[in-house]
Amino acid sequence: MNRRLRAARKRTAALATSLSLLAYGTALAATAGVAADVATASPADAAAAAESSPALTPPMGYNNYYVTLCKGTLTEADVKRTADLMVSQGLTAAGYQYVNLDDCWQAQERDSSGNLAPDPVRFPNGMKALADYVHSKGMKFGIYSSAGIKTCGGLPASFNHEQQDADQFASWGVDYLKYDNCGNDGIDVYPRFKAMGEALKATGRPIVYSICDGGENKPWKWTPRVGDLWRTTTDTGDNWQKVINRAHLNQRLAQYAGPGAWNDPDMLMVGRGRMTDTEYRTQFSLWSMMAAPLLMSTDLSKVSAASLETLRNTDVIAVDQDPLGKQGTVISNSGGLVVMSKPLHDGSRAVSLTNETDTTQTLTTTATAAGVPGAASYTVKDLWTKNISTSTGTISASVPSHGTVMYRITPAT
Ligand code: GLA
Repeated sequence: MNRRLRAARKRTAALATSLSLLAYGTALAATAGVAADVATASPADAAAAAESSPALTPPMGYNNYYVTLCKGTLTEADVKRTADLMVSQGLTAAGYQYVNLDDCWQAQERDSSGNLAPDPVRFPNGMKALADYVHSKGMKFGIYSSAGIKTCGGLPASFNHEQQDADQFASWGVDYLKYDNCGNDGIDVYPRFKAMGEALKATGRPIVYSICDGGENKPWKWTPRVGDLWRTTTDTGDNWQKVINRAHLNQRLAQYAGPGAWNDPDMLMVGRGRMTDTEYRTQFSLWSMMAAPLLMSTDLSKVSAASLETLRNTDVIAVDQDPLGKQGTVISNSGGLVVMSKPLHDGSRAVSLTNETDTTQTLTTTATAAGVPGAASYTVKDLWTKNISTSTGTISASVPSHGTVMYRITPAT
């Protein structure tokens, strides 16, 4: 890492630490009176995450799961093509960084040395060569395993092989591990996930550690903290009800998020084709308001121009990636009209107005309600239309059914 990069990283970490400590205070207040076994991350945890995590902002990238499921069809050529498309379609320029393989990349059995190995037919050149290819495109490479005997797809997993597999991943050049909870035989969850976290750290390679238990064991409450992000919900789908339900579940957990500690309501469905462009823009807006990982899972060789435009909205992405690392919160919710506010590092706020109902509705809030520092007037940028206007405090919009209007509100100087 060069000096400038190191200094920038240190500044982000310092900012992140102070913000995480603030978030911790809020978390404590919110959980006061809750049963003693419900622990939250300590200030030391938050500071450590902000200092040492390779994911100081929510990870952005691609995961093949919803495209191929575990059908055993994904090949190294597909992965390379996806990486190429991410570059040629301007997705890497917009911030997407990780090319992540989900379950079912593995051979049916470990190799003769007991190591995990890729399916020899679909990945004939092995994982190191594939990771090298992804790296040569300026991107990072992710892989999947499970804290059990078998993965969810019934393939060899990493329980009791944590260090061996972490070392194997590091030697391939893996930058991101999604770690599932299938095949666990009912063994205590925390030690199993902690073991892989420690094994990854022991490799000396920065590897983002993504916990995937479908939110079943509330990994956001584990202490000491384990993982850079954790799934908060079961699997989603290309369906409005599923996506909005994942949003609702994740919105409740804002207090646990911070740099190096992200709530993950599952992948972006944008581009898959069963929802409308309006609904996809809502998912993208809400995921960014919630500082969620932005992991695409659509066939990029078939994605529509409108979906690509959604995925490349750098104003919305900047809200997701804001270095303050605060998850936005719901400030009002009445009859399916939901307003969220997210503080940003420059003193501005992102505000989203989501209409979950079946008819067009007018949603209204104020700069004060959204927590924007008081001012005589505010600059209001619509992050989808790019229109810029001035307001003395009222924020209002007519929002189509299932739509979201998203603003960045800055006190005028
Ligand atoms: C679980 C996870 C999914 C995916 C599959 C793979 O269902 O929640 O995201 O990783 O396993 O088998």
